[in-house]
Amino acid sequence: MAPEGQWILMATGRSPTNIAVIKYWGKRDEALILPVNDSISVTLDPDHLSATTTVAVSPSFPSDRMWLNGKEISLSGGRFQSCLREIRKRACDFEDEKKEIRIKKEDWENLHVHIASYNNFPTAAGLASSAAGFACLVFTLGKLMNVKEDYGQLSSIARQGSGSACRSIYGGFVKWCMGKKDDGSDSMAVQLADEAHWNDLVIIIAVVSSKQKETSSTSGMQNSVETSPLLQYRAQTVVPSRVMKMEEAIKNRDFASFAKLTCADSNQFHATSNSVEYFYWQVAYTFDAGPNAVLISPNRKTATLLLKKLLYCFPPQDKDLSSYLVGDKSILSDAGLHSIEDVEALPAPPEMKIPDQKFTGDVSYFICSRLGAGPKVVSDESQALIDSVTGLPK
Ligand code: DP6
Repeated sequence: MAPEGQWILMATGRSPTNIAVIKYWGKRDEALILPVNDSISVTLDPDHLSATTTVAVSPSFPSDRMWLNGKEISLSGGRFQSCLREIRKRACDFEDEKKEIRIKKEDWENLHVHIASYNNFPTAAGLASSAAGFACLVFTLGKLMNVKEDYGQLSSIARQGSGSACRSIYGGFVKWCMGKKDDGSDSMAVQLADEAHWNDLVIIIAVVSSKQKETSSTSGMQNSVETSPLLQYRAQTVVPSRVMKMEEAIKNRDFASFAKLTCADSNQFHATSNSVEYFYWQVAYTFDAGPNAVLISPNRKTATLLLKKLLYCFPPQDKDLSSYLVGDKSILSDAGLHSIEDVEALPAPPEMKIPDQKFTGDVSYFICSRLGAGPKVVSDESQALIDSVTGLPK
């Protein structure tokens, strides 16, 4: 056995973010985070949008502590406490013979953790950073504490951190089943299809603002529950049939139906008009609580055409094309765009009413992504965010 108090045990995990195509909006229980309707999302490639979290445990740590993107944050909030409590409850015996570390199930209650988490995209800019963050926290804590629970149970714990986080426990297409029980035990996510099922889809995100959202999703939806007569109708009447149709569309890779449902749900969630029937369904769009637009193309060809139009309308402010489009940059060469001169030479999209109109500066940058897999353990120790000797962020 290593000398008491000397050892530090660590685990690192990486979890993707997700974008809802049928939105979760409104809770029936604020503390347990139980929704008023089912929702469906696509998980994005973690190479482009994900959270990485290292969790360390040691008898030498006097308290639980957490650092987000390098800055220490408080763990006293109910949501963090729920996740920590629920994972600790399910912790199992652990033994590392080489390091001579033995932890009994009941010991986990008295061991404190240090958590360091990092997002490879802007926090709270409407890009579901809390989803990736809480999914990663729960997944990685579960690995560290040798939790044997299945992914459904893990998703139900991640849900108590942030509702949308329960969907980031899986890759591909994911449904959060709202459940019926008061204790929330049946409110969890299931995978509808993995990322290979429909891997033609290309997702382009126009990051309008990397700044923190003015209204959090939590208070925004609270307000809707209290004041919007539409919300109950949406939850009880509109969403159930939309969810069924969306499951069919995903199963059959029916882009026209997928796009129509995605855009209609985004519009309704924003309580705007529902005049989306006029689109030709070449591209689907969806907006979360922030201002960023998420555009989903059925294939690479349509995505390159779309990108050319986007870059025509929203040209980069400075001359650096490679920092204006991040993620899967290979789409730029597919579109024949190798330099800023190529962008400047793009023709006006034929459907533009005022062809000379450009919106330079309105988009901070674009992210090109695709469907991605669920959470993974990062076993390369050099990628851990906590120093294995000091127990503090690197
Ligand atoms: C608009 O999961 O961030 O992105 O459960 O209060 O933490 P809390 O809210 P959150 O809400 C996400 C809302 C949404 C739609 C969605 O992802 O389904």
